[in-house]
Amino acid sequence: MEKQLEELQRTFLEDLESIRDPEQVEQARIAYLGRKGRLTTILRQMGSLSPEERPRIGALANSIKAKMEQALAEVSARIASRQSVQGIDVTLPGRVLRRGSVHVINQVMAEIEDIFRDLGFQVASGPEVEDDYHNFEALNIPENHPARDMQDTFYFGPGVLLRTHTSPVQIRVMESQGLPVRIIAPGKVYRCDFDITHSPMFHQVEGLWVEEGITFAHLKGVLYEFAHRCFGPEVPLRFRSSFFPFTEPSAEVDMGCIICRGAGCRVCGNTGWLEILGCGMVDPEVYRFVGIDPHVVTGFAFGMGVERIAMIKYGIDDIRLFYDGDLRFLLQFA
Ligand code: PHE
Repeated sequence: MEKQLEELQRTFLEDLESIRDPEQVEQARIAYLGRKGRLTTILRQMGSLSPEERPRIGALANSIKAKMEQALAEVSARIASRQSVQGIDVTLPGRVLRRGSVHVINQVMAEIEDIFRDLGFQVASGPEVEDDYHNFEALNIPENHPARDMQDTFYFGPGVLLRTHTSPVQIRVMESQGLPVRIIAPGKVYRCDFDITHSPMFHQVEGLWVEEGITFAHLKGVLYEFAHRCFGPEVPLRFRSSFFPFTEPSAEVDMGCIICRGAGCRVCGNTGWLEILGCGMVDPEVYRFVGIDPHVVTGFAFGMGVERIAMIKYGIDDIRLFYDGDLRFLLQFA
């Protein structure tokens, strides 16, 4: 019987080698350890053993049984772990990380910057949290001017506010930089306003050129050059006389509607024209605040809305689309 048990153990180990799946593990368990299995069959002969031999053979049989059970457990654990690796399809493509892109407003602002840099303008900047002096007073906007109203301006407290336009950069540059000055100042501005054409935060690009002999003709030349590079060489401009406290004379500039080409449509309100910026010759009163002699130099300034330019350029009819963060909108400009 001892021989039979050893033979059993040997064939079991041989059979174990060829086991590949959980079903074969179960078959081997039944064949060797089951109620009608080979071990049980051998143990049935225990009765024929002498009382002296019985304990020794019994112990041997128990240890072989334990070893077989352990070996089967190990094999089935190995198969299980191999199967979970097989469950992963290593040929599947990885998860693609979406790359970010420059926001359309920043793209348009960079394009505007490039055009003016080509025309010899330097890029300047100023703080978004401004004081009353730079945002209003030094720009010749008097104490009781409606632009100072709480309805339009976000105040932090007396004399401190979010700039309502980029024009305070004109003052800061003239204060700190010697003449001549030829700068643009792109950046964020804030007004208490919100509908399909107004956002409480939007972007402007300010322009300022102060030097001996600068005239309104230089202003027109620079703005025509800008419009033609930004919207194409055919685009007509119209200078409409207007008023700003810090320029004199002042104008608002309209561009021929690029949707209907002047025929009149919904976008241009049937006028054939789209307003793109405000401008004018720097008011002598402004020079007084920054210690420049208006008898020696002259200059012009302009300020344009970046959202407006972008809306015209791409036919966008709701300003809020720029700030909703909807990828379906943003990816069109990626
Ligand atoms: N700051 C004016 C505005 O925000 C625009 C402007 C700038 C007009 C420079 C004239 C000269 O409406």
